[in-house]
Amino acid sequence: MTEELLYAGKAKSVYGSDRADELIVVFRDDITAFDGGKKDVIAGKGEFNARVSARLYDLLEGRGIPTHFIALEGPARMRVRRLKMIPLEVIVRNIAAGSLVRRYPFVEGTPLDPPLIVIDYKDDSLHDPMLNDDIILALGLLTREELGEVKRFALRVNEVLQELFADLGIQLVDFKIEFGRDADGKIRLGDEISMDSMRLWDIRTGASLDKDVYRFEKGDVLATYGQVASRILGED
Ligand code: C5P
Repeated sequence: MTEELLYAGKAKSVYGSDRADELIVVFRDDITAFDGGKKDVIAGKGEFNARVSARLYDLLEGRGIPTHFIALEGPARMRVRRLKMIPLEVIVRNIAAGSLVRRYPFVEGTPLDPPLIVIDYKDDSLHDPMLNDDIILALGLLTREELGEVKRFALRVNEVLQELFADLGIQLVDFKIEFGRDADGKIRLGDEISMDSMRLWDIRTGASLDKDVYRFEKGDVLATYGQVASRILGED
């Protein structure tokens, strides 16, 4: 069986599999920030993200959210359904932080109730510009029905993950998800949900437990990712 490399992103590589409708995603140890302006390799990071993503997708499937996840096939290898990805980054925000605070007059740490959904166009060369409903429809990225479905899924993912993290003493500040269409045209959650794509704060100490540790050199990235993975996977 030969696995052909189909696509290499900044932190994951996607290969063909023995089945036409399934792919293998390899979570690499590469880590990048600021549109790829900061880059490193952190041995072991890919495995933590793969295991956390697998656990979260499994949980979400159980709560009725369709995902691409099939199984983990190795420490950092995940078998997934083949999707045609939609170039959108769907961000849900429960607390003001990150680019929201940089671009708008929000004070960092302010609760956002109801949560905000922000949808960006996924294109590094355009610096992932923020979209609105009219632009999404005019570009033909989603139908009006699909847009409603994507927003409902995003809020449901938020509810499920907020509940999980609250039990682990972690505040889910914000996160980014991506969607694609399967062979039947059904919208499913694709990509990953990991410490690279969520902003997590320790409820007790306020410490960052996510990629902000890498972005802003707040501490030991691998130790932080490992600590979050252990909490999520129930290993301590
Ligand atoms: O940078 P910003 O505050 O907009 O990010 C919001 C959330 O989306 C963060 O959790 C961040 O890690 C995630 N994100 C991502 N990939 C991007 C942009 C943001 O995973 N390209």
